[in-house]
Amino acid sequence: MSLAGGLPATELYPVTDVQEAAHAAIARHGPAIMEYGPVEGLLALRQLIAARTSAETGGVFMAANVLLTTGSMQALDLIGKVLIDPGELIVAQSPTYLGALDAWRPRSPSYLPLDWDLTDPDFDAALARAKFVYSVPNYSNPTGVLVSQARRIALLDKVVEAGTWLVEDDPYLSMQLDGSPGPSILSHAVARSTGKGPYDGPVLYLGTVSKSLVPGLRVGWVIAEAGMIQNLARTKMASDLSGSLLTQAIALELMERDFDHQHTNVTVPVYRERRDALLREANLLLSEWFEWDVPVGGMFVWMRSKGRAIDTDALYKFAVEEKVAYVPSSVFDFTGEDRFAMRVNFTRSSPEVIAEGVRRLARAIEHYLSARRQHDRARSL
Ligand SMILES: Cc1ncc(COP(=O)(O)O)c(C=O)c1O
Repeated sequence: MSLAGGLPATELYPVTDVQEAAHAAIARHGPAIMEYGPVEGLLALRQLIAARTSAETGGVFMAANVLLTTGSMQALDLIGKVLIDPGELIVAQSPTYLGALDAWRPRSPSYLPLDWDLTDPDFDAALARAKFVYSVPNYSNPTGVLVSQARRIALLDKVVEAGTWLVEDDPYLSMQLDGSPGPSILSHAVARSTGKGPYDGPVLYLGTVSKSLVPGLRVGWVIAEAGMIQNLARTKMASDLSGSLLTQAIALELMERDFDHQHTNVTVPVYRERRDALLREANLLLSEWFEWDVPVGGMFVWMRSKGRAIDTDALYKFAVEEKVAYVPSSVFDFTGEDRFAMRVNFTRSSPEVIAEGVRRLARAIEHYLSARRQHDRARSL
């Protein structure tokens, strides 16, 4: 039984709609859609994303501001290849999405945790040296945190002052369980710009259909100033020649009729119920040892051990014995210090399975604590 995954619920995938969109895409484009495509991706989808972004932010976005990628994971990889020279500094929200750490590991970057207070003068100096700031402001992975508007604006101010880049990774935008998260950092960057031309700000915004439609399409995108898009596209060419025009065309069919937005009417109530089931059972059985904030969106509850009393790496062995999985905090932590929290997913399983998973976790904790007591007693003899 896994509470570890980071995936939407398979049973909510809009199979028939994707099937119809595939038929429509092939009928519309013919065999041309089965060719290698332009490295930047299907022009009509880039234009649609640019138009949506212009409407949402009030800025001017053109196809030249959009690169389609194989999921936002490829965008993270390309950003690493274009921006990071070996050993350079990244300022990142901490704990950090594991996929980003994996993507950038070959460049051996150093990391500084993003301090949201933003008052430390040493932080300003570090920011001036950093290649970019990495943030997941909407329902972050792994913590589920929603970054406040005030902090978004303050961070952008600092980034502009330091003359660096800001990577805003936003895969969970469609998973709003309790209301809207408010404007993206990209929108704030648009509001600050004085020119009337196409977007040329410091934010690289990453979007994806993985949570709003299905992850298997592998359609993501980067929105950035046109020169950065060209650099990323050149690097993508060396990586995979082009993404899949066919799945981009399927995404286009669905997004043209706004299906990705409408589909949240199906997904969000189910995810809300599952989150609440997890929190109800966890309040009953885990709150003696763990504490958490209620996530207002996304897929995860970040459970922190009270008083750092439970090492979640060590607990994992006992969880496996009870046949339940979670993700220990150590894998998201570039500081090497956090072994006292765990990421628990609520989107992948029914409320009943989630409740059973929590009962198993509670038993695992009991066994872990009793084994530790025995060990301590044996040592003191
Ligand atoms: C923060 C974050 N960024 C990027 C991704 C990758 O998403 P995609 O499926 O679009 O590659 C994920 C996947 O869960 C994620 O959590």
